Amino acid sequence: MAFKLSLRRQSTALACSWAARVPGVSRRSFASASSSLAEGVQQTIQRDASLPNPDPKADSPSAALVDDHAPFMVATYARPPPVFVQGEGSWLWDIENRKYLDFTAGIAVTALGHCDAGFTRILADQAKTLVHASNLYYNPWTGALSKLLIEKTLESGCMRDANAVFVCNSGSEANEAAIKFARKVGKVVDPSGDKHDFVSFNNAFHGRTMGSLSATHNPKYQKPFSPMVPGFRQAKYNDIESIPAAVTEKTCGVIVEPIQGEGGVQTASPEFLVALAKRCREVGAVLIYDEIQCGLSRTGTFWAHGNLPEEAHPDILTTAKALGNGYPVGAVLVNTHVSEKIKVGDHGTTFGGNPLACRLAHYMVSRLSEPQLQKDVLAKSNLFRDRFQRLQARFPELVGEIRGRGLILGLQLTEDPSPIVQAARERGLLVITAGTNTLRFVPSLTVTNEEIDAGLDMLEDAIAATRA
Ligand SMILES: Cc1ncc(COP(=O)(O)O)c(C=O)c1O
Repeated sequence: MAFKLSLRRQSTALACSWAARVPGVSRRSFASASSSLAEGVQQTIQRDASLPNPDPKADSPSAALVDDHAPFMVATYARPPPVFVQGEGSWLWDIENRKYLDFTAGIAVTALGHCDAGFTRILADQAKTLVHASNLYYNPWTGALSKLLIEKTLESGCMRDANAVFVCNSGSEANEAAIKFARKVGKVVDPSGDKHDFVSFNNAFHGRTMGSLSATHNPKYQKPFSPMVPGFRQAKYNDIESIPAAVTEKTCGVIVEPIQGEGGVQTASPEFLVALAKRCREVGAVLIYDEIQCGLSRTGTFWAHGNLPEEAHPDILTTAKALGNGYPVGAVLVNTHVSEKIKVGDHGTTFGGNPLACRLAHYMVSRLSEPQLQKDVLAKSNLFRDRFQRLQARFPELVGEIRGRGLILGLQLTEDPSPIVQAARERGLLVITAGTNTLRFVPSLTVTNEEIDAGLDMLEDAIAATRA
């Protein structure tokens, strides 16, 4: 805390210091004053002066911190310059006291916003009570979370025969467990051992562990780590015709996202999911819905498959992300067809299901299953869509299809969105991309109408600036 505060004081002072060094010259007018500075420097100053949040420069406190730390971090991410130190609701602050409206919610994680008061209170309380005792013993919260997940799922008309839960720590781990459970079911259903194939779809993203990665048929992610786990096949998303050839008697499991997040916010058609479920039942394959990004009321129903007829409900559902609002936790919901085939010792985890994570997830499920919150999600979705249509009209060469549901929305662009993402950030808005040239919007579900308007003003301004 002392560290954080001292950085903030230092950075605020620094942010104000250069304008203060030129008496009588405001920040905005500084660059246009007659100057002996080189033209390039003047242009940079002018550009920065016109932006509320110009990205931190090479001599900033942010850069100093990154330069100190980055050499010790395995470089698995290319990050922009700001360093975030604080969050509240839909807002983030960096160490130089810049304020950002966050339409990313930590990649669809902080569904109740940053540092929700109830969440924070529970976190502190449980941290003082019991954090971990291992899965060798019972605790009050793993079971309470499991029970609530099943109750809320059935109450909401989703996964009609959901019956038991396995709790883990992340999305990849949830999918890894789902893959193992499907393989185990395959072994029980067909003791010959031949029923072990696994089907997933183009543009899917299921995670980075070797099992979940093997179901993520994207050369960018798979190639450096080949060979993949044997028996994983790719089929075509939303292609009903191709289902019979892809899903066969040898298939033990099929995993699909009802809405593909990383793949560019692509929505599975109800007809496709109905046909897929029918085929799974014909050949005795386990149907898995990966709702790690799209579930937990992000689409306006508790699970994203909530609008589907019962025959298209899954045998397994995986969840994570919003389940912990930023605290790592994942879960796998299964029906009896699956649960009765999983025996003691088949799967396990040291941390998964610890009382701290489970109490937090219990709170999240209670809050995210509120009907009013779900209604609000749909109303807010319409606000986004109206503004997207305005963008389509204003920038017809750039803005194409609007995709998604609720507050998982994609705006298809005709070019690489990276310059727009930077221009938005420098105006105080955080957005992310997905798929090919898609801007992805996954804000907190508690984002307000005013924040949506303000964010989309910044986005419009950012797009206009990149056209200039
Ligand atoms: C649909 C989906 N499945 C699985 C994962 C992997 O989750 P995690 O990063 O928690 O392992 C993600 C993460 O983005 C996801 O969006």
